[in-house]
Amino acid sequence: MVALFNNKTMFLSPILTAILCLCFVLAGAELQRFNHPVKPDGSLSVMVVGDWGRRGTRNQSQVALQMGIIGEKLNIDFVTSTGDNFYDNGLTGVDDPAFDESFSKIYTASSLQKQWYTVLGNHDYRGDVLAQLSPMLTKRDRRWFCQRSYIVNAEIAEFFFVDTTPFQDKYFTEEEGHTYDWRGVFPREEYLSNLLKDVDLALRESTAKWKIVIGHHTIRSAGHHGDTMELVTQLLPILQENNVDLYVNGHDHCLEHISSLNSPLQFLTSGGGSEAWRGNVKWWNPKEMQFYYDGQGFMTMKITETEVEIKFYDIFGNVLHKWTATKTLHSPIYVEKLVVEDLSYGEICNKMY
Ligand SMILES: *[C@@H]1O[C@H](CO)[C@@H](O)[C@H](O)[C@H]1NC(C)=O
Ligand SMILES: [Zn+2]
Repeated sequence: MVALFNNKTMFLSPILTAILCLCFVLAGAELQRFNHPVKPDGSLSVMVVGDWGRRGTRNQSQVALQMGIIGEKLNIDFVTSTGDNFYDNGLTGVDDPAFDESFSKIYTASSLQKQWYTVLGNHDYRGDVLAQLSPMLTKRDRRWFCQRSYIVNAEIAEFFFVDTTPFQDKYFTEEEGHTYDWRGVFPREEYLSNLLKDVDLALRESTAKWKIVIGHHTIRSAGHHGDTMELVTQLLPILQENNVDLYVNGHDHCLEHISSLNSPLQFLTSGGGSEAWRGNVKWWNPKEMQFYYDGQGFMTMKITETEVEIKFYDIFGNVLHKWTATKTLHSPIYVEKLVVEDLSYGEICNKMY
């Protein structure tokens, strides 16, 4: 009896496998998940920079130099780019020298020789998008890792990278004089609805202590671009429903921290990788606005099972703003928000707030 059963199983298994494969195909592609180990002490240090690739100009090299120094101090585990990796128009192809001139030859410090998890910004979509996503770039510089939307699972924290550019209507309708490479995005409605479904499902299933979502575009910002309404209406409700702790973005060329009055979600902009000082800052409710700096710099996150510490740095290595959140060890619920210190120095950092 047992032997017969075994024979049957062996006979059926290829068919079952085929059916299972078909089901997966029909269910759509889930977000791919990549594992990143934590340090032996269980902590994780991450550096975040955005809006940078300008062949070293507009203080990009100064930001890079300071990232190297702070990266060494914090012994960072990986770097995250919030997009607009190559100005003005992304990469022309996998051989574009801008990749060396704006990335490999700029972020040369030994502390920055880590994995770079990157997303695409609107400027990247103006070039050859498939080039930035190509494994050929990882062959040119093994730090480079870019996909449209994916998950990095680091045990205590999960990072959900979301491709935000296709959400913004104006890139599809407005005559801006720019062309965008929408290969892989059309049909747009389907692309967006699948993406939202995938993000929602991944967040729902996540058991990580800290859930951090990273995209290029702002959700909340007092900077030049301001809020991205498409994300406010479509993505934000999903983040709130699933108790996301941090939304991290670039796009506005500043350093900024906005909290929510009605949820623990924090909005963190790290878009100071090169050109900044736009001087276009809108009024924001001071109860939500924790920090705004209109100049260049970057952000770090130090994460343990019970604590997240955010710091913003300028190009001289000054800590402009520091913020800490804690959770109790066994509760998945965020229990306490504690603004430890606001080290913003001088008027240039806190012009309005
Ligand atoms: C570079 O940074 C310094 C210090 O913040 C600033 O004074 C200067 O204007 C910046 N240069 C550019 C081109 O943004
Ligand atoms: Zn942008």
